Amino acid sequence: MSLKSKIVEILKEKNDYVSGEEMSNLLGVSRTAVWKTISRLKEEGYVIEAVTNKGYYLKQSPDLLTEEEISPTLKTRYIGRKIYHYKQVDSTNKEAKKLAIDGAAEGSIVISEEQTAGKGRLGRTWASPYGLGIWMSLILRPQITPVEVSKITLIAALAVSKTIQKVTGLKAEIKWPNDILINKKKVCGILTEMSAEMDKINYIILGIGLNVNTEEFPEEIAHKATSLKIEGKKSYDRKELTQELLFEIENYYRLFTKQETVDKLLEEYKACCVTLNKEVKIIRNGIEYIGKAVGLTENGELLVEKEDGELIHVFSGEVSVRGIDAYV
Ligand code: BTN
Repeated sequence: MSLKSKIVEILKEKNDYVSGEEMSNLLGVSRTAVWKTISRLKEEGYVIEAVTNKGYYLKQSPDLLTEEEISPTLKTRYIGRKIYHYKQVDSTNKEAKKLAIDGAAEGSIVISEEQTAGKGRLGRTWASPYGLGIWMSLILRPQITPVEVSKITLIAALAVSKTIQKVTGLKAEIKWPNDILINKKKVCGILTEMSAEMDKINYIILGIGLNVNTEEFPEEIAHKATSLKIEGKKSYDRKELTQELLFEIENYYRLFTKQETVDKLLEEYKACCVTLNKEVKIIRNGIEYIGKAVGLTENGELLVEKEDGELIHVFSGEVSVRGIDAYV
């Protein structure tokens, strides 16, 4: 943890005045270093009162998803242990890719308060206004083959839906493969990108966009997009959600790397998946098929029974579910 994070941790834990001398003893740094770090924290939005003979008192922390705010009470072992935080970036997936190429450790995350060119699936854009959501990308380096990568998206979807239910009590459902819905509207999207060779993965970028306190969406998507605030009719703490989400991702990621628990995960996924047993429309290479989603394979592909009875494996592409999308 950085000196900034350690100082924030001490101030929060004590919840009282802490003298510069005590802080410098606890941290093994000079009082000048403490004072300089406190000044930087103030510049970043912390309200810290300094009183002669008493010390420093933390009155208020900013609503930012920085390392100082996330790390001290994070329950994970390695997911999110290295945080790259930005106020503004084009896309956290793009940034994470650069860091992955430079050798960033597995579990490192990139978070931005705002994205100016957030990427969605199938070349779409992802609206990412300042401070209203969780716009985050994780760098993973699993020892799996490229065909197994879709499983990573499945565990991320499971982790998001579990986090939403745990923190907000709202019922979150998954639209295969990776949209999280509340009351049939999309609250979260996942964009998984990878760099791989024939039989080996170099890295995976798992991009997650969760609409937390958004109150309004651009007109084109207003009928199908939602946020936790719109559904729960109150604001939610983005820090708590981020910490819980990282914890759930680590849990599911660990289970996923053990063969014996993959079946259990698929069962759990199926239980939250609104696509299964529904009539779906698939668009593959520009051709439309109507069928029924009848199952999931071990690698997370959707099994669809076409109208002529043929069973096909759907890897990605566009799947519309009757009654949920524009498909009626
Ligand atoms: C989708 O189309 O459903 C996927 C949306 C993914 C959005 C997230 S926000 C964080 C990360 N950075 C990006 O540019 N996109 C993903």
